[in-house]
Amino acid sequence: MERNLALEVVRVTEAAALAAARLMGRGDNIAADQAAVTAMRKALSYVQFKGRVVIGEGERDEAPMLFIGEEVGAAESPKVDIAVDPLEGTNIVSAGGYNAIAVIAIAEEGGFLHAPDTYMQKLAVGPKARGVIDITATTTENLRRIAKAQKAYVEDLCVVILDRPRHQDLIKEVREAGARIKLIGDGDVAGAIATSKEGSGVDVLMGTGGAPEGVLAAAALKCMGGDFQGILKFRNKEEIERAKLMGVTDLNRVYTLDDLARSDVMFAATGVTFGDFLQGVRFFSGGAHTQSVVMRSRSRTTRIIDTTHYFEFKPKYE
Ligand code: FBP
Repeated sequence: MERNLALEVVRVTEAAALAAARLMGRGDNIAADQAAVTAMRKALSYVQFKGRVVIGEGERDEAPMLFIGEEVGAAESPKVDIAVDPLEGTNIVSAGGYNAIAVIAIAEEGGFLHAPDTYMQKLAVGPKARGVIDITATTTENLRRIAKAQKAYVEDLCVVILDRPRHQDLIKEVREAGARIKLIGDGDVAGAIATSKEGSGVDVLMGTGGAPEGVLAAAALKCMGGDFQGILKFRNKEEIERAKLMGVTDLNRVYTLDDLARSDVMFAATGVTFGDFLQGVRFFSGGAHTQSVVMRSRSRTTRIIDTTHYFEFKPKYE
């Protein structure tokens, strides 16, 4: 994976974040998402690689841009696979909430699981608990193992969970085990990243969210030394059929971090709204400030990039 791609891909997430942030709090999540997608796609056309979208906005017939299989980039090499979520947290932006980010991850060809657009049960932890989790074990058992690995009490742990009715039993069990909970409205990629960020106050992500977001979270945690496991969860027969067409044979398979992100990966994200990990876009007369992160799994480097954009002097991605 080329080192100097890192700065190029940040421009891509910056462009998406700047476009989406314009629509913060406007109550229109579709417009915010569309703005981010359009801006990201335009920015990708300047990047010096040949990228194939493997995690994107959907199948070719349902997504006009950044659909699965679409080729993007301004060069013939290096050939890479890309996973994108131009706006992770459409509802967050629409309501002006916390933790919306624009995300891209890059791998060598064949480096990402081609995750179907279904749900995934997820378990994510930071570096200290890497290697001790088992998504097929009970929640209580996992919390016990994570606490032991972190030399902490279960009562010290904070588990981030999407606030959804489907998580009622999970929340009950976490409470009975004695751990603390941070319920989030949306944005489980940011939730997973928080587990691996020292001082975030979050230790574990549990629960079911989007499968494509699971691949992005795994890519981020691979760069941060964390751990991740996932099991696909299907809502109906159509999703099962679609998954089979995408090559899924074992419907109950446990995907490890390395199954989801097989090769070396690069991960970049820019804050759209303020969050635990990144500051959101701040506009000023004639420009805006953004904050992004770029990480590489091979070197485990994490760069936080603060950028000041002067719109008069830069190419328009919107
Ligand atoms: P979008 O930005 O695509 O709306 O995703 C937000 C999100 O909260 C993800 O972070 C999460 O994985 C998924 O939605 C959960 O899905 P659901 O809202 O159906 O529970």
